[in-house]
Amino acid sequence: METIPEVHLNTASGIKAMPLIGMGTAVYPFGSSETILQEAILSAIKVGYRHFDTAAIYQSERPLGEAIDKAISMGFVRSRGELFITSKLWCGDAHPDRVIGALQTTLRNLQMEYVDLYLIHWPVSIKPGRELPFSKDEIMEFNMRSVWEAMEECYRLGLAKSIGVSNFSCKKLEFLLSFAKIPPAVNQVEVNPLWQQKKLREFCKDKGIQVCAYSPLGAKGTVWGTDQVMANKVLQEIAQAKGKSLAQICLRWVFEQGDCVLVKSFNEERMKQNLDILNWELTADERNKIGQISQCKGSPAEVFVSCNGPYKTLDELWDGEI
Ligand code: A2P
Repeated sequence: METIPEVHLNTASGIKAMPLIGMGTAVYPFGSSETILQEAILSAIKVGYRHFDTAAIYQSERPLGEAIDKAISMGFVRSRGELFITSKLWCGDAHPDRVIGALQTTLRNLQMEYVDLYLIHWPVSIKPGRELPFSKDEIMEFNMRSVWEAMEECYRLGLAKSIGVSNFSCKKLEFLLSFAKIPPAVNQVEVNPLWQQKKLREFCKDKGIQVCAYSPLGAKGTVWGTDQVMANKVLQEIAQAKGKSLAQICLRWVFEQGDCVLVKSFNEERMKQNLDILNWELTADERNKIGQISQCKGSPAEVFVSCNGPYKTLDELWDGEI
């Protein structure tokens, strides 16, 4: 198997870099499939994945930690240090006095002393301690400055080797950069051929922020995803003509943009297939065809929009980038 290319993040302490292909662990309903998840993660480590993306709200931290423990005892990896682990601060903990405690809970779940990357999951706060579901009147003003200061403290304490955000627009990143003492290393957002995010990716590149792409296949079959990506005719034609799967075309396209790809599969053959995107490339003509696919966001996240909350429309949540 080819070595997965890595990138050095702008705030990463030490020498460990982030592998540009990672495995997602969000399975809905959250917390419903711990054993399946643990087995899938173990298989993923066995076939070569070294980067795992979790979040407090996914309830996948504990099975991830257990799978890693098993992987070490089975000799798939020598130590936790060979893996790159990302987790995320949930909105109910996006309050300055809750951030460090939330990360400590995450670390207990993972049975780890640090995460490689810790992200603010959404630019949203909900009532302290609330999880899912929450009601619209529990959405509160998000104090980006004070929450980010607490994230910076997580970095200084060594609990997170790098810090970043998720689901932030250019406007929100611009504001964050105006006061951050430690700039965000990563913005993790939805990216796939049907939601290419050209403006946001250019902005991030210019500012040295690494984009990580979630739902690179559109997260088919989930409550937040769309079937449209895997059913797209242009992608189907390219895949057929090239002798690749449609999934591989999507993943290669994301990878060629320089983004980190976070893909999820619980099937070992598809896990391998999803890693097999490194020793071939798309032609200029194929990239051009993909560039012309009409755009449609798969996960607009209406759940965070409320008539009395800080975001009254989707346009406000995404600052017009929708
Ligand atoms: P499965 O676990 O059965 O492979 P995303 O990464 O965008 O969230 O998409 C995840 C979904 O895509 C899962 O339903 C997963 O199903 C499916 N999937 C992952 N890899 C492939 C692949 N190579 N071909 C087809 N479907 C895939």
